[in-house]
Amino acid sequence: MRSELENRRLAVCAELIRTDGGGKKAAVDVGTDHAYLAAFLVQQNICGKVWACDINPRPLSFAEKTVHECALEDKITLVLSDGLDAFPQRPEGCTHIVCAGMGGELIADILSRCSWADSVTSVLQPMTKADELRKWLYRNGFRVDEERACRDGKFVYAIMRVKKGIPEYPCDERYLAAGRITADMADGREYLEMRARRLEKAAKGMLSSAEEQKRAEGGRIAELAVRLKKETEV
Ligand SMILES: C[S@@+](CC[C@H](N)C(=O)[O-])C[C@H]1O[C@@H](n2cnc3c(N)ncnc32)[C@H](O)[C@@H]1O
Repeated sequence: MRSELENRRLAVCAELIRTDGGGKKAAVDVGTDHAYLAAFLVQQNICGKVWACDINPRPLSFAEKTVHECALEDKITLVLSDGLDAFPQRPEGCTHIVCAGMGGELIADILSRCSWADSVTSVLQPMTKADELRKWLYRNGFRVDEERACRDGKFVYAIMRVKKGIPEYPCDERYLAAGRITADMADGREYLEMRARRLEKAAKGMLSSAEEQKRAEGGRIAELAVRLKKETEV
């Protein structure tokens, strides 16, 4: 059975691994759930091997079903693990970590507890708090070498490919709000519009606050929203 990737988010994650240079690749998929990404990666020969992990036994049982139906037992190993805790050392041949469909703060926490995260490439797709993840990456010496936007249903997500290295871009407000995504990228305009709307909403509450400091913060956020909107107009 061939596993199809209907999920656009996961398809972009797979693409960011596929386009990451040549050579043999193998990935740990953290929070694998149904192991759809893991199955796709090996069936498309993007990875020769995937360790598909989840903290919960139930999703791992769904993953087992996918692996069995696709007859991929020899290429996908299922692991019950909180983040990468079950891998005190880098699994042999592992070149990539994928963390998709989790909050940005959880992804940062998972990477911070992994001693070998700086020796591989990570593909990260935060559902929330992308700004917190960007800040953590920057402060911990990881650079985003490519970032894409991806509309999936009602939402537009940021997906980043990250390596150890000194970022050549500043960690300013614009970067934290929208990363390396620009309006000319696929789904980039939609991502910036969505981010601007969220910032506008956050600013609105602050601007009516009785506290002067909160109002000032609201003004700053409102300005950032205007800046992002302007980027979508060019
Ligand atoms: C929303 S699903 C995402 C599934 C898939 N990666 C995707 O992007 O579509 C999140 C999965 O992450 C798992 N998860 C949550 N916290 C985790 C952790 N600390 N370590 C490993 N897996 C975790 C959950 O059990 C769940 O299966």
